[in-house]
Amino acid sequence: MTVMPHNHLMWAVIGVYTGREDNIFWRRLPEVPGGTIEAAGAKSLGERDAEPLGRDIIHSVTNPLSRLTGGIHVYGGDFAAAHAVRSQWDPETLCEGRYDLERNMRLFEEADRVGA
Ligand SMILES: [Fe+2]
Repeated sequence: MTVMPHNHLMWAVIGVYTGREDNIFWRRLPEVPGGTIEAAGAKSLGERDAEPLGRDIIHSVTNPLSRLTGGIHVYGGDFAAAHAVRSQWDPETLCEGRYDLERNMRLFEEADRVGA
């Protein structure tokens, strides 16, 4: 399962308690129209790892395993209310768009069904 590049618009701390998540961190290309991003770094988090994420972080997350990865996410604000103003980036064009909560919820439900 891969969650496409997205932002949170608030700080966060992610702690993994089982499995692994591979993060790609992205940065905006201000000189390119469309809010385009490029890869800027990566970090693989395994069991017992924790990672603080700054307010402006854009990341995509892949579970490279064929089993559940579980983590605890702490956000520095009203995460549910922020969905309305958050962004996601198309994984093919890397252009910015409005965060699609329904699509992302379906992605998690689908992964839960197949056990990924
Ligand atoms: Fe995230």
